[in-house]
Amino acid sequence: MDNFTDKIAVVTGGASGIGLGIARALAAAGAHIVVADIDEDAAKKSAEDLRGRGVRSIAVRTDVREDDSVASLFDAAQSEFGGIDLLFNNAGVYLGGEMRDCTEDDWRFVLDVNLDGVFRIGQKIAAFLREQNLREEGRGGYVVNTASIGGFMSHGGGVAYAASKYGVVAYSEAMRMDLEADGIGVSTLCPGPIDTNLPASDRLRSDHEKTGGVSEALSPFIRGGMKPDDIGPIVLSGIRRNLPYIFTHDDMRESFQARFDSVMDCIDRIGEPS
Ligand SMILES: NC(=O)c1ccc[n+]([C@@H]2O[C@H](COP(=O)([O-])OP(=O)(O)OC[C@H]3O[C@@H](n4cnc5c(N)ncnc54)[C@H](O)[C@@H]3O)[C@@H](O)[C@H]2O)c1
Repeated sequence: MDNFTDKIAVVTGGASGIGLGIARALAAAGAHIVVADIDEDAAKKSAEDLRGRGVRSIAVRTDVREDDSVASLFDAAQSEFGGIDLLFNNAGVYLGGEMRDCTEDDWRFVLDVNLDGVFRIGQKIAAFLREQNLREEGRGGYVVNTASIGGFMSHGGGVAYAASKYGVVAYSEAMRMDLEADGIGVSTLCPGPIDTNLPASDRLRSDHEKTGGVSEALSPFIRGGMKPDDIGPIVLSGIRRNLPYIFTHDDMRESFQARFDSVMDCIDRIGEPS
C-alpha cells in the first residue's frame, strides 16, 4: 500500500505513545482514524487532535482483552466509515522485575493484552480485510502488529513481556504468510526505545492485582529515547515497501548478529561429542 489518502485505519493503543505517533503520521498522509484505547478520555483527546489535522477520527473505548469490546470497536468503525483498510494492532503494557518476582497475575496481565489482545483483534479484522478485498476486488489492506526489539532478544527481567513479544513476532510472521495470497500485507513493528507512557502501565491494574513486577522498571531504558511522533513516518515508509519487519533503530545490528551467531553456533555443534 503506498497511498494513504482517504484510507480508514484502526489504531489500538492509539491514545498514547507509538499508536498516537502512527495516527498523526496517518493523518498527515490523509487517512481517517479510529482511535481504539482502554483509556477513553485520552482516546477522545487523540481523536480531537487528529480531527484538528484535517481528517475524520473517532474514539472508541476498547479493551483488547474482551471479545465484546472488540466486536463493538468493529461495529463502530463500520458504522462511521463503512470499511477498514489498515489495522495497527498496537495496544500493549509492560511489567518488569526479575523472573522470581513475576507472579501468575503479572503473567496474565501482560499476556492478556500483548498477545491474546493482538490475536483477538488480528483474527477479527484480518478476516474482514480478506473478505472486503474479495468483495471489492483490489482494495487490498494492511496490518501492522507491534512487537518489539524485545521480540527477538530478551535481556533478562520482564519475562512475561519478553514471552508476549516473541509471541507477537511469531503470530505476525505466520499472518504475513497466510494473508499474502489474499492481497493483504503484514509487517511486524519492532521498535527500540521510544519515550512513551509504557512505564505507567501499572495504572491499568486494579490495586489488588498489583503484585510482583512493576512497569516503572522500564523507565531508564526508554527515557530520552526516540519521540513517538518520529516513529510514525518510519512505519508508513515500511508499509509502502511492504517490509516484513519495521525496525526503528539501526544501532541494534551487533546485538542481532550476536543472537543469530549463537543460534548458528549451536546448530554447528549438533553431534559434537559431549
Ligand atoms: N515504548 C517503547 O520503547 C516500546 C518499544 C517496543 C515496543 N513497544 C510496544 O509499543 C506498543 C505501544 O506502547 P507505547 O510504548 O506507545 O506505550 P503507551 O503506554 O504510551 O501506549 C499504549 C496504549 O495502549 C493502551 N492499552 C493498554 N492496555 C489496553 C487494553 N487492554 N485495551 C486497549 N488499549 C490498551 C494504553 O491505554 C495506551 O494508550 C506496545 O505494544 C509496546 O509493547 C514499545
